[in-house]
Amino acid sequence: MSSIFRLDSSIRVNGSVSRAVADTLVDSIAAELGDATVVARDVAADPVPSDLWSTAALAGFTPEEQWSPEQRDARASAAALADEVVDADVVVIAAPLYNFGVSQHLKTWVDTLITDPRFAPGTETVKGKPAFLVVTRGGGYGEGTPRAGWDHGTAWIRRILADVWQLDLDIIETELTLAEVTPQMAELRDLARQQLTESHEAARTSGRSVTLKLRAPV
Ligand SMILES: Cc1cc2nc3c(=O)[nH]c(=O)nc-3n(C[C@H](O)[C@H](O)[C@H](O)COP(=O)(O)O)c2cc1C
Repeated sequence: MSSIFRLDSSIRVNGSVSRAVADTLVDSIAAELGDATVVARDVAADPVPSDLWSTAALAGFTPEEQWSPEQRDARASAAALADEVVDADVVVIAAPLYNFGVSQHLKTWVDTLITDPRFAPGTETVKGKPAFLVVTRGGGYGEGTPRAGWDHGTAWIRRILADVWQLDLDIIETELTLAEVTPQMAELRDLARQQLTESHEAARTSGRSVTLKLRAPV
């Protein structure tokens, strides 16, 4: 049986665009794979404690035989989180833009995984595994707009997923998600709706690309 690992990081549930697009995407992948299980981790509802990261990280500077019980527990918890990605056939990460970066919850999850030797820079544990990054942004950041270059979240998480962990990454981005509720963005609402439709369409057709990747000769 195939398995999909899905991580959500939106701090809202109702009205969350990243969750909605990830729903479409996971449904599409599951339908294509047949009998897939979904392992869901919601780091907004159930955050990885930030001191889990710091304890596990500092253990890396101490010989293992000298680890404290807290360091042992932290490394075991980090390994359990890492197992979820190692064990999956497909990875889906939903990452809204918050304050021009990723959520602290997503950052802590990534930092904690990197304390696991299998996810340290230079390792190839999940190299080539199909993965999707679902990005949502309230505003617009396209070339020529006043805030072009201000999205520091997507660049960072892409660097981790595609370059550090070497996942085979596709990105589905939806901008202008605040247009519907922001009077100053009223003139952008048609564009926002069009982008949202396109994102769901991309998500719907992505299942096929996963099966092609999984069946491709290594
Ligand atoms: C605390 C907070 C900070 C945000 N910061 C930004 C930001 O810096 N830039 C932006 O374009 N949108 C920002 N937004 C808007 C979100 O990116 C947007 O609502 C997105 O759709 C959130 O994902 P979701 O729909 O899955 O909840 C912010 C939203 C919140 C709640």
